[in-house]
Amino acid sequence: MPFGHPMRALFALDPDIAFLNNGSFGACPLRVLEVQDAIRREMERQPVAFFADAAPGRIREAAGVLARFLGAAPEDTVFVENATAGMNAVLRSLSFAPGDEVLTTDHVYGAVRNVLAHLEARAGIRVVEAPLPWPARGEDEVVAAVEAGFGPRTRLLLVDHVASRSALVLPVARLVALARARGVPVLVDGAHAPGLLALDVPALGADWYVGNCHKWLFAPKGAAFLWARREAQAGLVPGVVSHGHGGGFAASFDWVGTRDLSSWLAVPAGIAFLEGIGAERLRARNHALALAMAETLAAAWGTEVGAPRSMLSAMAPVRVPGAPEASWEAGRALRRRLWQEHRVEVPVMPVGDALWARISAQAFNVPQDYRRLASALPALTAGA
Ligand SMILES: Cc1ncc(COP(=O)(O)O)c(C=O)c1O
Repeated sequence: MPFGHPMRALFALDPDIAFLNNGSFGACPLRVLEVQDAIRREMERQPVAFFADAAPGRIREAAGVLARFLGAAPEDTVFVENATAGMNAVLRSLSFAPGDEVLTTDHVYGAVRNVLAHLEARAGIRVVEAPLPWPARGEDEVVAAVEAGFGPRTRLLLVDHVASRSALVLPVARLVALARARGVPVLVDGAHAPGLLALDVPALGADWYVGNCHKWLFAPKGAAFLWARREAQAGLVPGVVSHGHGGGFAASFDWVGTRDLSSWLAVPAGIAFLEGIGAERLRARNHALALAMAETLAAAWGTEVGAPRSMLSAMAPVRVPGAPEASWEAGRALRRRLWQEHRVEVPVMPVGDALWARISAQAFNVPQDYRRLASALPALTAGA
């Protein structure tokens, strides 16, 4: 099936929207939602048999399909509700002494920064945020910035694979190598990466890797995973400690109390949808569209794209024209007006001293979607 409008019919999306934010919450295909519905009905047909007898095997089976997609071993891969839950599980399972440092970057996701703030208050850790040069010019600068942040008290490196606000794809394998050379373990926040980037999780060399399936892997909301290197599994506990506690990594995460298992069990259907299109074909097409449209927008607005092509994917940041205040509130106000007045959905966020529109390209997007943004935005920021 051709990309663009024919593919839009495969999704529940409102056909009148220029939906340029697949990044935040993804968009689940109708076919996958149908699979999820069928799982829900099965769950309700005989709830006890479903949860007590079938669920443990079904969860492992689905985790096995996901693990294969990630290049990982099934026993090293567990489902969690979302990336935030996975990051919480790792960060709150680790032992820190007062004064221990966690090294991250100033592009770290806000909710994850809050977990670190909690640990600052609770455990006395110190958070070191390496400032990434912005706009970005190349990987070497990122590596140098992070390298400068290591110190004798660094106990953990926490890096995003794809940063939320800037859409930067960080050179994770190189950053992991820096940490390994210093004996520092690494936690990767790969919330956006599955489906967006070609991904072989173990090959990155990190200790823990968290990713969402509901952003770019076509899974229903509430599907994410935590991968842990075999040697880094001991002591990890999920946010909710339940019956599986003490039974090992997979057992403790597979059962976190009675919950709707349909999103996890529908992950193989999301992967099948992606593979039906062709994962590599979709990735290449979406990357090319996002980058071409980012350059077109920047040219139309007389602004710039925030990073070289080599550091972006199917998401790209374009500096907003005019000089609006570089605040979260100003960004949210612009986003709301674009949606309410123009039916364009795109996140507008501060990075450095400016606001940036972070566009996404997914199978259903067409150049016309971005042209709507191109013409709508300047009027909203004129005189700002
Ligand atoms: C880098 C990063 N980490 C974590 C998250 C949180 O994802 P979720 O809301 O699915 O927990 C996001 C969401 O956009 C993200 O971009």
